[in-house]
Amino acid sequence: MRWHSTWHTCGFFRTLFSVLNQRRELLILTMQEDDYEINQHYGRGDLGTTILAALQAAGKNPQRLTPDDLAPVDQFHTAGKQATLELMHLAELQAGMEVLDVGGGLGGAARLLAAEQGCKVTVLDLTQEYCRVGELLTARTGLSDRVSFQQGSALDMPFPEARFDVVWTQHSSMNIADKARLYAEVRRVLRPAGRLAFHEIMAGPVQPIHFPVPWAHEPAISFLRPPVGLHLLLGPRFGEMFGNQVRNLQEHRITVIQAVFERI
Ligand SMILES: C[S@@+](CC[C@H](N)C(=O)[O-])C[C@H]1O[C@@H](n2cnc3c(N)ncnc32)[C@H](O)[C@@H]1O
Repeated sequence: MRWHSTWHTCGFFRTLFSVLNQRRELLILTMQEDDYEINQHYGRGDLGTTILAALQAAGKNPQRLTPDDLAPVDQFHTAGKQATLELMHLAELQAGMEVLDVGGGLGGAARLLAAEQGCKVTVLDLTQEYCRVGELLTARTGLSDRVSFQQGSALDMPFPEARFDVVWTQHSSMNIADKARLYAEVRRVLRPAGRLAFHEIMAGPVQPIHFPVPWAHEPAISFLRPPVGLHLLLGPRFGEMFGNQVRNLQEHRITVIQAVFERI
């Protein structure tokens, strides 16, 4: 009897596993392998209910939310809402401008640009669950007339040429290996003299990076490029030099001053 039930259990797990594998293969057939991995990395399956329950527990009304209520969870980048506001001012956004947020996630920046500046924002994101939950959160903030979501890839944007005044992107290019194609797509959908507003993580001079990081559990879906920087002046030992600079600062061996002096 015991053997019998054990075999049944094994059979059940085998079947379940192969169904899961078939589902994975099916999903991969409809999307690139990287796209599937990114959906796996960011998707949770229950994000909408989890976020709404946490907001309710924090004393918010989940039926009527503000961008500020959502800021702790929907500004998925360094320096959060403050960084979004800074970039918004830098980009000199005006009311009525058509903005595309590439890799816009749950739509936190999009809702802020719509609420603060009156922009019309389209969020393009690869993660299906982010788009679905983003639509839900946008409806709860009453901004659905100004913020919309489109599931898709930044490498093959489902928009015509010269469609947007501004392309906006915060912390999404780290997941994208083909940077040339990404920025060719950005250029294609921007109108002449349109702007790219950019807030991204780049590779530092000390490599490799430690995993996991918020955008990747492992190196397979992380593609950081170095920015223009002092490594161009200092050559191949820059990583070591930079590391020593940080260490010397931490151990108080050097100190830095910044000052403005007036001539007497
Ligand atoms: C760290 S999150 C940042 C989300 C949002 N920009 C923010 O700052 O709150 C990175 C986002 O990039 C999206 N992403 C990654 N690769 C993408 C691609 N090839 N096309 C579109 N979106 C992509 C992910 O789905 C995820 O939502």
